[in-house]
Amino acid sequence: MASLVLLMCHNKVVGSTHLFWKRKRKEMDILLIGPPGAGKGTQAEKLSQLLSLRHIASGDLFHKAFEEQSELGLKARRYVDLGELVPDDITIPMVIRHIEEPESIQGVVLDGFPRTLAQAQTLDAELQRLDRQLDLAIYLKVSREELLQRLAGRFFCQANQHVYHTKFRPPKVADRCDLDGSKLYQRPDDAGEAMRRRLVIYFNQTTQVLDYYREQHKLRVVDGNQSIDQVQEMLMNEINDYMSREAKA
Ligand code: AP5
Ligand code: MG
Repeated sequence: MASLVLLMCHNKVVGSTHLFWKRKRKEMDILLIGPPGAGKGTQAEKLSQLLSLRHIASGDLFHKAFEEQSELGLKARRYVDLGELVPDDITIPMVIRHIEEPESIQGVVLDGFPRTLAQAQTLDAELQRLDRQLDLAIYLKVSREELLQRLAGRFFCQANQHVYHTKFRPPKVADRCDLDGSKLYQRPDDAGEAMRRRLVIYFNQTTQVLDYYREQHKLRVVDGNQSIDQVQEMLMNEINDYMSREAKA
């Protein structure tokens, strides 16, 4: 108990007060898992700020690599544009490298990785090597109808990939990011065949990953159909619950 610090976090967005435990001696590693458009990026950004964890999003890393026209970007582009998974031998080293960086030492919120069994197993091995382990895998469960609506209205900012939605999260100034002023754009794989392919691949591949974490008793399910603020509150409840159980153990 001596090694634990109680933090009060006023969450103005949802108008309630969250209590959560932050362990002094140990980082926290959380995974957000869910279909395209489930809200992983939106919620990971918020959790990362609230809990001081590094947000690592595999999809955003690929988009950054495209912009930089790096070798990795060139290799990954054809898969992403088609809505297919980028092969593990490209994806795994890219994410693991980020987990090993000093910026990840306080813990991470993983968004979009792992999404194959091989990725999940490699992540476990890597965290073990770093004397860490995944604390929670939270599944954002969202209906197909809602996913289609969210993807169709989504925009990103060019500078930092901040996420907006024409209806659910409009920017204050049309076409500009509230946070950095950069121009907003739509992802080409958010429409047409690529978008449909992403949804099919997700539902085929991810069941295995969900089973993997369920067997480890790390999986929690949150109803992601609710508003952004309600989902955030439910996520914080799950994290608080986990932390208080850990504190008692
Ligand atoms: P990635 O970028 O990870 O895409 P994704 O998994 O398809 O998920 P999205 O980013 O589309 O959705 P999200 O859950 O983050 O939703 P968001 O918060 O934006 O991957 C892209 C591609 O990269 C893949 O297709 C693949 O090719 C490759 N790739 C990535 N990772 C890989 C891996 N591990 N292995 C192999 N290949 C990989 O929200 C969506 C919209 O809804 C936004 O407009 C938002 O404002 C709005 N919204 C969010 N929450 C709510 C809410 N509660 N209510 C109303 N609106 C909401
Ligand atoms: Mg995302």
